[in-house]
Amino acid sequence: MRTVTSFNNDWLFAPEKLSLDVPDSTFMPITLPHTNVIFPHHNFDNREYQFISTYRKRFALPEARKGRRVYVDFDGAMIASTVSINGHTFSEYRGGYTPFSHDLTEYLNDSGENILTVHLDSNERPDIPPYGYVVDYLTFGGIYRDVRLRMVEPCHITGVFVRPQDVLTDAPGLEVDVWIRNQDDTARAIDVKADLLGIDGEQYSSAQSTGVVIPAGEERLATIRFASLPQIERWSLDVPALYELQARLMEADDLLDVQTERFGFREAEFRTDGGFYLNGKRIDLIGLNRHQTYPYIGAAAPPRLQRQDADILKHELGVNIVRTSHYPQSPHFLNRCDEIGLLVFEEIPGWQYIGDADWQALSLRDVRAMIERDRNHPSIILWGVRINESPDNDSFYTQTNALAHELDPTRQTGGVRNIWESEFLEDVFTYNDFSNNIREPIHTPHLVTEFNGHMFPTKSWDQEERLIEHAMRHAWIQNKQLGMTRVAGAIGWCAFDYNTHQEFGSGDRICYHGVMDIFRLPKYAAFWYESQISPDVRPVLRAATIWSMGDRSEGGNDPLVVFSNCDEIEVFVGDESLGRYTPDRESFPHLPHAPYRIPMARHLTWGRAFADLRLIGYVQGKAVAEQRIAADGLPNALILAPDVGELQADGADMTRLVFKIVDRYGNRLPYTNQIVTFELDGPAELIGENPFALMGGQAALYIKACRDPGTVTVRATTPRLPPASVAIVIR
Ligand code: GAL
Repeated sequence: MRTVTSFNNDWLFAPEKLSLDVPDSTFMPITLPHTNVIFPHHNFDNREYQFISTYRKRFALPEARKGRRVYVDFDGAMIASTVSINGHTFSEYRGGYTPFSHDLTEYLNDSGENILTVHLDSNERPDIPPYGYVVDYLTFGGIYRDVRLRMVEPCHITGVFVRPQDVLTDAPGLEVDVWIRNQDDTARAIDVKADLLGIDGEQYSSAQSTGVVIPAGEERLATIRFASLPQIERWSLDVPALYELQARLMEADDLLDVQTERFGFREAEFRTDGGFYLNGKRIDLIGLNRHQTYPYIGAAAPPRLQRQDADILKHELGVNIVRTSHYPQSPHFLNRCDEIGLLVFEEIPGWQYIGDADWQALSLRDVRAMIERDRNHPSIILWGVRINESPDNDSFYTQTNALAHELDPTRQTGGVRNIWESEFLEDVFTYNDFSNNIREPIHTPHLVTEFNGHMFPTKSWDQEERLIEHAMRHAWIQNKQLGMTRVAGAIGWCAFDYNTHQEFGSGDRICYHGVMDIFRLPKYAAFWYESQISPDVRPVLRAATIWSMGDRSEGGNDPLVVFSNCDEIEVFVGDESLGRYTPDRESFPHLPHAPYRIPMARHLTWGRAFADLRLIGYVQGKAVAEQRIAADGLPNALILAPDVGELQADGADMTRLVFKIVDRYGNRLPYTNQIVTFELDGPAELIGENPFALMGGQAALYIKACRDPGTVTVRATTPRLPPASVAIVIR
């Protein structure tokens, strides 16, 4: 049988290339995921993460090997890894976004100590995608995803691909591919069994393929079919029903191996009428692009933060699709997309540049690695098999498309381009449209994969008019695409501000293109996305104003912009009701919930008395939401808000700790630049700038659990306001 053990703990790290004879005392102890440098959230030089480091792990086999093969599996290390075991070195793995494994068996000490070493080259190597020319994002460095030790019988499963069939009929089926490797020196005859399980473990159905002969040293594929399955619940955005397929290898009565894959029954198709159909029903795609990087920690975010990004996209921003720009992202992120019903467009690493034949071979390897890793995720509906915004290269892209179709006949391909006339070799014409408009498609299916971005960078403390315009550009494009039947959807650039190279962004190593800032805190554009959520889910009422008399050109606040899913809004200034208003459906006829543009010139002019704003939102005549903003603009409190109150004592778990300075109704004060100072007590580490000079009235740090349980308290202070404190339990 196989055993899989987490190998994230008890690593030693040194930020230089060291040989085996260098004592452990030169290293520092770390837990994965790991970033090779902790940075401030901006204003740093990306050359600082570009060096070769050494990771060392001493281990004894966690249990008796009993003739099994032993593999080490890396989910991702940036950007080229040379792994050694007990002095034997494997060839370098080039690529920071795809998984790799090594068979350690021949070089292990079964009874004594073993030393695993990784020399990790985190230079921006031109021979490895995305590098070779300039790139608008940072890759950072480190073994930033999980590592596992896997022990398997010589004859074992190397992959399982589950393909639901006839999903829209009363008698759906399944086709299951199981790849089996035989590392024994004699041929083996085995039975491959497959059980379909509900997520509660209940068994629905079984099927098998018997007498599969695998010659010594070879690999074989067994395909198992299930026909006419009873009562299957389909995976959808509202009810993302998941099932498990458990594949077992049997040799007579001996169980050799088990591998379980989670999947969903759904049919996803971009059609030539221009629409995207999930289970036969057209869904208008509204989405955002996501980079996998975070402030301070680069890409080394633990499962909790990865999963939280999916939740933010689905539940805070209300979008139904995310593009994993511009590379395969964390399995934890994708798992969460499956669980909550968030569609994914996943693509290979790269940015505008195609390298030589060797580089292209790596890129083809990336197509394979991405699809073999991820083809069981029901959330993934499209493979991106073109280097983002690269020039045409028909021979290369004919190969990437053919490979994608061969590895996964169930999904369509896209290839993200910014050249309108480029060769259409994929199934879906995926186009980055930065015209601040949407062009009428020349090919269908047509999906807009980016808009806005660098055309209108916006910081969360920018002038109110700019923040409103930023939000309105997103609203305008999404409104436009929703009115175009031959456009399947639009995915805006982008969800979160991100660190970048000097050729891009605002010069402080940030592209301020997000509808949220780098800490995943909302700008007004985020409020616009949120306001498209159905009021049945929750009422949304967000004034897009800091509510002052002198911040806009000419003073006042005209029009007052509000993003809301309410039918009507009543506006009060002080105690005076200005009446009830309805959204601007005339300008935004295709949006589920058009923005409000409320005329205020009559009520608020520069040089007149000013009072608090109060909004009441009504749905079907019932008051369901209220927002107030203080007119005096005075700091009232320092707020400290962790996302969760409990972490795991695994040395890696983290929560975001948001802090902000707010008015007396809890609205952040965007122009405060107070210094906030933190003190932490207990078995955890504070990650981030401390003290932090606020920008935009809000920011965040992370709290990272150590490996001891206990209670952590964090206390924050700032001049002229009472201190704030929170407690977090580490279990
Ligand atoms: C696109 C590119 C993205 C990002 C964006 C900024 O051209 O694909 O990665 O750089 O511009 O707007």
